[in-house]
Amino acid sequence: MNLFDVYPLIPVTLVKADGCRLWDEQGQEYLDLYGGHAVISIGHSHPHYVERISEQVKQLGFYSNSIQIPLQQELADKLAKLSCLHSYQLFLVNSGAEANENALKMASFVTKKPGFIAFSGSFHGRTSAAVALTDNPKLVAPCNARDDFHILPFGDLDAVEKVLSSNAIAGIIVEGIQGVGGIQVPNPDFLVGLSRLAKKYEAKLILDEVQSGYGRTGRFFAHQWVDGLYPDLITIAKGMGNGFPIGGLLLSEAFKASYGLLGTTFGGNHLACAAGLAVLEVIEAERLHQKALELGDRLMAELRTIPGVMAVRGKGLMIGLDLNQDAGPIRSLLVSKYKMFTGSAAGKETIRLLPPLTIEWNQLHSFVVALKEILTSETH
Ligand SMILES: Cc1ncc(COP(=O)(O)O)c(C=O)c1O
Repeated sequence: MNLFDVYPLIPVTLVKADGCRLWDEQGQEYLDLYGGHAVISIGHSHPHYVERISEQVKQLGFYSNSIQIPLQQELADKLAKLSCLHSYQLFLVNSGAEANENALKMASFVTKKPGFIAFSGSFHGRTSAAVALTDNPKLVAPCNARDDFHILPFGDLDAVEKVLSSNAIAGIIVEGIQGVGGIQVPNPDFLVGLSRLAKKYEAKLILDEVQSGYGRTGRFFAHQWVDGLYPDLITIAKGMGNGFPIGGLLLSEAFKASYGLLGTTFGGNHLACAAGLAVLEVIEAERLHQKALELGDRLMAELRTIPGVMAVRGKGLMIGLDLNQDAGPIRSLLVSKYKMFTGSAAGKETIRLLPPLTIEWNQLHSFVVALKEILTSETH
């Protein structure tokens, strides 16, 4: 049987990892500056994570949501402690798209309205409603397309108010910091304005923190850089499980649960909760969000001094840099010659950096040296 060939592949087969280092089948070492799309938050094969998951699978790996799973409450308590969002409720799922799909559904359930607003540059996943709010028409199949879903210019509050005034909009979905869109940090006034307008027109504000959450930007959630902003719904995944598939939906206390309203077979299983707890325990013990902020500031300052780097955006260890040329060949050279993985973004000049939060300064600095060497050499 052939694999359905949808991914352009880097010609490397990884077989082992430790922290921010990866090894291929020939024993060649690589530096992970991308964390497999922001997934590796606490570093590959973190000993506490390995132990927590191993012990759990020996005891009980899975049983469905038809029985009590106290690990779910433990995870919710830890998440409340680290995020300081004590009054929210948690619904556990398996991926970012699934988290967003459920958030959209909840906004529509409670407002009894069908429409949504998202923004240019957005990426919210590939399930039906989430993909229809993703700014990439190539991903939207005819069965996903919706006339009452609006993708408006990022930052344009007037356009938002105009659409909201139809009174057919259930919610607004926005990323804490746009990831796939090239690490675009929303203006705080824009997020505050969205919150105000959502309230005015009885719509729900959904913060997609799938990529920007879990300490990556120096605060637990990227939107927490904006004082007093409390979204109705917050979605999480990626860094939440450090590679174990887990996602979640945080719902403000205004949302009332009822049996059968939402559901999933795998979401919140024992093994996923153990992975999720291990991640939070390590973030707390190693103060990873504070570390991400310090390292990110230092790295962005150095990147700005490199000739050929036209712009540097981001917060903490969620960084986008625009080059004066196509980033594709540069990223390929970073893999083949310098043995470093980086990420792409919607813009072809952009490199995305989303390393594990446990990365050390000397590892980040080796990227600065490599990029400077490439961009200042005549031929590459
Ligand atoms: C902001 C954001 N939301 C949602 C998703 C979808 O997550 P998943 O691939 O886990 O479904 C992604 C994935 O890249 C993302 O970056």
